[in-house]
Amino acid sequence: MLGWTNPLVKHDGGVLDYDDEATHYDRTRGGGPRAEAAAAALDGLIPSRSVVLDLAVGTGIVAAELEALGHRVVGVDLSVGMLRHAGRRLPGRVARADATALPLPSSSVDTVTAVWLLHLLDDAEPVLAEVARVLRPGGLFLTTADKIAAVRVASNTIREDRPHTDTCAQLTALGARHHLQLAAATSFIGHGQGQPGGTDPRYPVLGFRRAGDSAS
Ligand SMILES: C[S@@+](CC[C@H](N)C(=O)[O-])C[C@H]1O[C@@H](n2cnc3c(N)ncnc32)[C@H](O)[C@@H]1O
Repeated sequence: MLGWTNPLVKHDGGVLDYDDEATHYDRTRGGGPRAEAAAAALDGLIPSRSVVLDLAVGTGIVAAELEALGHRVVGVDLSVGMLRHAGRRLPGRVARADATALPLPSSSVDTVTAVWLLHLLDDAEPVLAEVARVLRPGGLFLTTADKIAAVRVASNTIREDRPHTDTCAQLTALGARHHLQLAAATSFIGHGQGQPGGTDPRYPVLGFRRAGDSAS
């Protein structure tokens, strides 16, 4: 194990307070190059000019790049501090909401995205269940996966981390329980996320299609 720590995880294993992170989030998470790479990966899997619900929109830096690619994005997040920044990028189109309890009717959304959310959760299943509820049949859910492993591979460590259920295998199995069938995959480079002088991680992105004609 090398002597470094995952900047997303506190030393006590807890998840960062994103209200505190908000002011320096963009600068410390690869800024424009990381956001452009993430948005380009998502863009490659969704129809042109989609309306997108972005879960955990954060500061809106990825959402803004999706908009620049021609999509219309609505974002939700739990952190008021992060939403303050997102609101400047997506005026009138962000709201405070928990990804496990979205203030939206069932089968009302075509495309849902979640970049760097599921690795933060002890259990991704409540988010997948809620995404399955709000997606219309045939709709798409795109999410980053295996984030902690991606960082581990790039940094050549065997470091273990806090509990998470965002591996590709876990998400594929959890998705199947909620009518979300694995349909596509891509990845993007996490510019600026490697150790100094090291390799930047490549983050997997999975695409799930909502099957069936009723919410789970
Ligand atoms: C690592 S940031 C990712 C932000 C953005 N997607 C990006 O890639 O720049 C994680 C975000 O998830 C939000 N978050 C964590 N748990 C959440 C939940 N249950 N519902 C909505 N947002 C949540 C945090 O407030 C934070 O803004």
